[in-house]
Amino acid sequence: MPLDLLQRPRRTRRSESLRRLVRETALHPQDLIWPLFIHEESGDKAIDSMPGISRLGRESLIEACGRALELGIPAVALFPSIPASLKDDVGTHAFESSNLLYLSVAEVKRCFPQLLVITDVALDPYTSHGHDGLLVDGGGAVDNDQTVEALSRLAILEAAAGADIVAPSDMMDGRVQAIRRALDAAGYHETAILSYAAKFCSAYYGPFRDAVGSKIGKDAISKATYQMDPANAREALREVRLDVEEGADIVMVKPAGPYLDVIRSVREAVHVPVAAYQVSGEFSQIHAAARLGWLDYERTRDESLLAIKRAGADMILTYFAPEVAAALR
Ligand code: PBG
Repeated sequence: MPLDLLQRPRRTRRSESLRRLVRETALHPQDLIWPLFIHEESGDKAIDSMPGISRLGRESLIEACGRALELGIPAVALFPSIPASLKDDVGTHAFESSNLLYLSVAEVKRCFPQLLVITDVALDPYTSHGHDGLLVDGGGAVDNDQTVEALSRLAILEAAAGADIVAPSDMMDGRVQAIRRALDAAGYHETAILSYAAKFCSAYYGPFRDAVGSKIGKDAISKATYQMDPANAREALREVRLDVEEGADIVMVKPAGPYLDVIRSVREAVHVPVAAYQVSGEFSQIHAAARLGWLDYERTRDESLLAIKRAGADMILTYFAPEVAAALR
């Protein structure tokens, strides 16, 4: 005798066609932003802690950007790895026109005008201590207001090089407003700001710091005086609202997977587009578990991204971008 059930949710799970019909969330290539590491050398250099990812030389960068367009990925985010010899306490090299980032942005935009280029506004690639800002008190703290002034100059240089979107990733107070005013005053009204609005002080950035060399020796530096405490979700909303008031066009939550609750509440709290950054550690842990044979690589990868979309992200920065876009075609 069948049970007398009016509700049988399994009815719509019976076949792949039914499951497709009722599927609530789908990932598309146009949701993806591809982060790319670049360096000054001509060849590529593999990043040990990020399987399959390299710091790209000039030719590979252009190749990757062409591939992004072919795959329907609308944007790339460029992260320069700067040789230690060019780094100092105050990130002087950030403000030099010979800087790899500006040359690369200009070249990508020349080759592929329709591809969006996003640049990080932060000093960590250029500072010998690896912090995102300028230190005071003999290295004890990052000075907010001096850093904001430096970041505003940086944003103008990035816009001048042709960046479509500048992305302050430093978590200083008041930087979105300062950058918006600086860009406008310099005539870059159309350059958008994607703010890393709720960026947590996360252990998941480890492989990224290997990639850009912002780790000093083996020591992980603490960015806890500016990046957010992983324990705080209400504070994330405060940060996001402030950035929207200050003129952010898009707000970001970072990392993504461990902060799905924050993505969801940000989605509900504001009406600007929401980005999420599936960071290096989220990428590498899937690779590591798959290598050990403990997780199915493709299914875990796809599920990790779908979950971020389902939580409310409109766009996702992910190192999986090209392979997932290819799989979606
Ligand atoms: C630094 C920056 C970081 C990431 C993007 N921009 C690391 C940090 O704050 O130290 C991390 C991205 C990743 O882990 O993939 N401004």
